[in-house]
Amino acid sequence: MKPYAPAFILLWSAVGIARAAKIVVVPPIMFESHLYIFKTVASALHDQGHQTVFLLSEGREIPPSNHYRLQRYPGIFNSSTSDDFLQSKMRSIFSGRLTALELFDILDHYSKNCDMIVGNRNLMRALKQEKFDLLLVDPNEMCGFVIAHLLGVKYAVFSTGLWYPAEVGAPAPLSYVPEFNSLLTDHMNLFERIKNTVVYLISRFGVSFLVLPKYERIMQKHKVLPERSMYDLVHGSSLWMLCTDVALEFPRPTLPNVVYVGGILTKPASPLPEDLQAWVNGAHENGFVLVSFGAGVKYLSEDIANKLAHALARLPQRVIWRFSGNKPRNLGNNTKLIEWLPQNDLLGHSNIKAFLSHGGLNSIFETMYHGVPVVGIPLFGDHYDTMTRVQAKGMGILLNWKTMTESELYEALVKVINDPRTHSCWPLLLPWTANGSLFLQTHLLFVELHHKPGEKIQVKNNPMGINPRSFPVCLSLSERPHKADGAVKKPGENDLCFPEELLIQPSGWKQ
Ligand SMILES: *[C@@H]1O[C@H](CO)[C@@H](O)[C@H](O)[C@H]1NC(C)=O
Ligand SMILES: *[C@@H]1O[C@H](CO)[C@@H](O)[C@H](O)[C@H]1NC(C)=O
Ligand SMILES: *[C@@H]1O[C@H](CO)[C@@H](O)[C@H](O)[C@H]1NC(C)=O
Repeated sequence: MKPYAPAFILLWSAVGIARAAKIVVVPPIMFESHLYIFKTVASALHDQGHQTVFLLSEGREIPPSNHYRLQRYPGIFNSSTSDDFLQSKMRSIFSGRLTALELFDILDHYSKNCDMIVGNRNLMRALKQEKFDLLLVDPNEMCGFVIAHLLGVKYAVFSTGLWYPAEVGAPAPLSYVPEFNSLLTDHMNLFERIKNTVVYLISRFGVSFLVLPKYERIMQKHKVLPERSMYDLVHGSSLWMLCTDVALEFPRPTLPNVVYVGGILTKPASPLPEDLQAWVNGAHENGFVLVSFGAGVKYLSEDIANKLAHALARLPQRVIWRFSGNKPRNLGNNTKLIEWLPQNDLLGHSNIKAFLSHGGLNSIFETMYHGVPVVGIPLFGDHYDTMTRVQAKGMGILLNWKTMTESELYEALVKVINDPRTHSCWPLLLPWTANGSLFLQTHLLFVELHHKPGEKIQVKNNPMGINPRSFPVCLSLSERPHKADGAVKKPGENDLCFPEELLIQPSGWKQ
């Protein structure tokens, strides 16, 4: 089974028909890493005879392929302007501007673009004529919900991030389910639980009063009928596919219409180009360290680049660093700078000792697949949450770019390279990801059992009594979720399920 095959079957069950389906994908207007995932999904769908259409702004570059078609529209960005925008965001993050403000600015651009799409009558007419069977929303940008409503098309969420928002409606006991961006794990003391509650409340406030109303205003402005609240639209999603995995996510209660599809980009390494192969082999028994902050982050502040260069120069390993810009002053003679590198193939090389990364989700799944320990320096978005999980599971170390010193970085690298524990925990995690997420395949059964084609799973009886729209302040609420006793319950009777896999006990949980 190809690694993405389970994702395809899930999609298929979401469409609920046994014929060629036509699926429209609304990717976020920037962040090319999200587009990579949708391209993979489109190829999987193509292999099964389905059609995929990407809704993309004019001037956004994407390699031509017969696996998908494009529906273009005039948007606010093309590839070069969105890249400039992101790099300018990176600069202001490094210059110390509050990251939250930057995120609101991104949100502002999202809603401006959404306004242009929804107000574009020709585009909407063209989309309606296509008679799609399913629309895939990336909740990073919520315009997809509005478009689905406008077109009257059934929709499912395909999140390219690991974010499990409370708005899905699954209970999230704040005593052990850390809120997005809280930097907490599933083990929290009283103060951490208070912090988690505060972050939770701020997030709900932000979503309810800042994010969703923006889209509601767009719907009102363009007189989208029937009038629906964004909450209703979010809850109307047939299925939630989240790019996470039990190997990475903390144990938490979930719902039968939520599936983890993380790691669909992972694949075995291909042979390296000759020059790189020679360089990597030349590292001998010391091995090499890979450094990459992803395709999206072109700009590192000079101060950080110099710190990195000096710490890396002290390592006995060779270092290969994906880098563009001015060469750092104190670059060691063990370090090779390169503008582009085959990351997956290097991660899969037997000589690799560690990966220094920003903690981007796609990179982390590749790292997990190949079992390489990570030192992560998160920069924005879900990097912090990803690295918090990587560190909590013993796969690496998180460093904060604001406070990190050169020697801390050096010590962290030496530690992950030499500490057998960062390597030894891998075999436990690998089976999950190496087979394109075995968990997904077990979960598939859940979907098939619970999810009749064409039927949305409703969250009615919520045994924990938590209404996703209320503000539960439950600092020490039930310590351990009750396991659904094996049997498949009728939808509506008790729609919560705790798959066995989610009940792998973290060491702190008491029976
Ligand atoms: C993107 O848009 C800018 C300004 O609107 C324009 O100058 C540039 O040529 C465009 N680039 C591409 C690749 O279309
Ligand atoms: C690299 O630099 C170190 C000291 O900075 C030196 O001992 C070593 O010989 C150099 N290696 C090469 C290949 O130039
Ligand atoms: C996938 O799982 C099967 C058994 O479930 C195993 O035989 C196979 O080696 C696994 N593949 C990888 C790449 O681990």
